[in-house]
Amino acid sequence: MQKGALWFLSGFGLALLIGWYAFPQLLYRSVDQPVQFSHAVHAGEAVGMTCDGCHAVSDDGRFAGIPTLEQCAGCHVDVLGASEAEKYFVEEYVRQEREVPWHVYARQPDNAHFSHADHVKVGEIACERCHGPHGTSETLRPFEENRITGYSRDIWGVNISGVKSNPWEGMKMDDCVACHKENNRRSACLACHK
Ligand code: HEC
Ligand code: HEC
Ligand code: HEC
Ligand code: HEC
Ligand code: HEC
Repeated sequence: MQKGALWFLSGFGLALLIGWYAFPQLLYRSVDQPVQFSHAVHAGEAVGMTCDGCHAVSDDGRFAGIPTLEQCAGCHVDVLGASEAEKYFVEEYVRQEREVPWHVYARQPDNAHFSHADHVKVGEIACERCHGPHGTSETLRPFEENRITGYSRDIWGVNISGVKSNPWEGMKMDDCVACHKENNRRSACLACHK
């Protein structure tokens, strides 16, 4: 093979590598969650709470979302166990009455409207369909924010090609619309956008 072609090929290979591996690293800013919270402990055998205990959809359709400190403080007035994460949580947040500034992986842009009551109560869709196994997670992965749009990486999904291995990977407009179509719903632009 000619030297030029070899150079061209290796350059091309390098560009591909940059495109597939380095670009996402550059595009997203990674931040740790403020506290390491374990769903496995709280919604598992150790504590035994149900999802409703922290994320209820009330009869009037309001979704409690991320729990406030008040919902944790009852149990965590004092440090219960030996973990660093709990000690840190009690000292830095409970005792100082500071809300934990959790990053929401599924957060949508402000102009998109989403209601849990429509989907969980009326549509009877399981949390896992859209959030994967988060309810059984033991540790919290870093939150990845798109440096250009400020959006969570979970909207587009982890794979830069947009190809999904699981239905919950990615919740961009096309993903919302695809499921609405499967359910024979053709929502108007203004159903989802204010
Ligand atoms: C003791 C309270 C508590 C219970 C019980 C609980 N959660 Fe959570 N949940 C949290 C807290 C705190 C967060 C924020 C930190 C995080 O992302 O895990 C959260 C976040 C979430 C999120 C992440 C939303 C996002 O995109 O960032 C999902 C999904 C979720 N919970 C599902 C569940 C499911 C499913 C169950 C039942 C199996 C459950 N939770 C039970 C406290 C709770
Ligand atoms: C019903 C009681 C109860 C409630 C409510 C509760 N916790 Fe816990 N939490 C526990 C117990 C029990 C442990 C395990 C302690 C041990 O043995 O290490 C724990 C452990 C923890 C830990 C240590 C790491 C982990 O998650 O295992 C953190 C951090 C924590 N809780 C945060 C929270 C936050 C934040 C909330 C509110 C959203 C909350 N807890 C609500 C009982 C509770
Ligand atoms: C049809 C898909 C879908 C289902 C089913 C679903 N969620 Fe969500 N969830 C979302 C989307 C989209 C967001 C982001 C909403 C936003 O930013 O306005 C979200 C956000 C959240 C949040 C972050 C707080 C908030 O209010 O934005 C929590 C916690 C959560 N969901 C828990 C749950 C739990 C628990 C269930 C099951 C009872 C559930 N979700 C079912 C799509 C879904
Ligand atoms: C089923 C809900 C749904 C419907 C119907 C829908 N959208 Fe969206 N749209 C979304 C969500 C969620 C986002 C944010 C996630 C993303 O960027 O893909 C979005 C993003 C957008 C954006 C990009 C805005 C930004 O901040 O990135 C535009 C523009 C847009 N929609 C226009 C439209 C138009 C025009 C229609 C009607 C033909 C429409 N949408 C119908 C859910 C919907
Ligand atoms: C897994 C399937 C599924 C996904 C994913 C999904 N939806 Fe839905 N959505 C439904 C179903 C089913 C209903 C109808 C519930 C009912 O009223 O029977 C619905 C209803 C709605 C409604 C009520 C008004 C209307 O158009 O009928 C809005 C608004 C909506 N969805 C927005 C969204 C947005 C925004 C997203 C993406 C962030 C999304 N949905 C993702 C299944 C889904």
